Amino acid sequence: MSQMKAVRIHAYGGTDVLTYEDAARPKVGPAEVLIRVLATTVNPFDCALRAGYLSGFFQYSFPLIMGTDAAGTIEEVGAGVTSFERGDSVYARGGVSRDGTNAEYALVPASDVAMKPKSLDDAHAAALPHVTLTAWQALFELAGLTSGQTVLIHAAAGGVGHIASQLAKWRGANVIGTASTNIDFLRELPVDQAINYSTTPFETVARQVDVVLDTIGGPTQERSWKTLKPGGILVSTVQAPSQETADSYGVRQAMVFTNPPIGKTLTEVATLVESGTIKPHVSAVFPLSETAKVHTMIEGKHTRGKIVLQPAG
Ligand SMILES: NC(=O)c1ccc[n+]([C@@H]2O[C@H](COP(=O)([O-])OP(=O)(O)OC[C@H]3O[C@@H](n4cnc5c(N)ncnc54)[C@H](OP(=O)(O)O)[C@@H]3O)[C@@H](O)[C@H]2O)c1
Repeated sequence: MSQMKAVRIHAYGGTDVLTYEDAARPKVGPAEVLIRVLATTVNPFDCALRAGYLSGFFQYSFPLIMGTDAAGTIEEVGAGVTSFERGDSVYARGGVSRDGTNAEYALVPASDVAMKPKSLDDAHAAALPHVTLTAWQALFELAGLTSGQTVLIHAAAGGVGHIASQLAKWRGANVIGTASTNIDFLRELPVDQAINYSTTPFETVARQVDVVLDTIGGPTQERSWKTLKPGGILVSTVQAPSQETADSYGVRQAMVFTNPPIGKTLTEVATLVESGTIKPHVSAVFPLSETAKVHTMIEGKHTRGKIVLQPAG
């Protein structure tokens, strides 16, 4: 069968440019694997890509298949791939700068794939790659979070935040999380202190923190500087922090750009899942054909954990 269903865009725009349609099933290259996708997701990244906000960073050509996360089984391996074989259950992140994973089949470089944690179904495995790599890079690679430190995590109930909170607790940190409509969910996570940002200015409660994970930007980022102790670090996923402002507070700053290859980190993450350290939260599952509805939900900015898409059986 050379055709498959995929969610593609033929131009940048609103959710109406998302087209659920037939596309050619991709042909595997030497260092790639073809995954039969059993679950995939929508990230805010996909909404930004669809709207054209990333056209200055990546060179896309149309039609373009959307999506970055995938869980499923290996359908085919490229000639140079020895780490996987047909039938393996895997999870992966692909599609950041090329055709993505919101399809029945997805091509991913083998170096961005790992064996799926056995204890997770495909929906929960697909919830992990993009957000977990983001949280991992922010907290461990950029901030160097260590045991006993305090971290302020904005949007702790969101995709990145709910995994970041769990990773930070695993590392032995004291975790302060912010939320509003999802404040109750924070108590289910290992968050030591939950701040309802709609009723309490977070900077009046969070003081002398070692690390801020900024997933919001704008005024939230601006108000976060004063929560840091001298020498602390503000790491943002959304807006490059100003070095000048960091200097004026005597703190550091960094911006997250999750870069491949990431299969090795996903393998490490799988062991944390198996030990019960990380539990992805899936708040809803929709058929792949309803991807546009999920973009609208994500753009509403108040979803909990992850929303998953599943191709028709
Ligand atoms: N640079 C990178 O490589 C990278 C990678 C991944 C993500 N990102 C970016 O990081 C951001 C977060 O991603 P995500 O997947 O975690 O998003 P998400 O899942 O869509 O975040 C939703 C959460 O945001 C919370 N929220 C909304 N407004 C808030 C505010 N003012 N203060 C605190 N929390 C607020 C909501 O909680 P309540 O309903 O309780 O308010 C909701 O639970 C996105 O902008 C995304 O594009 C960047």
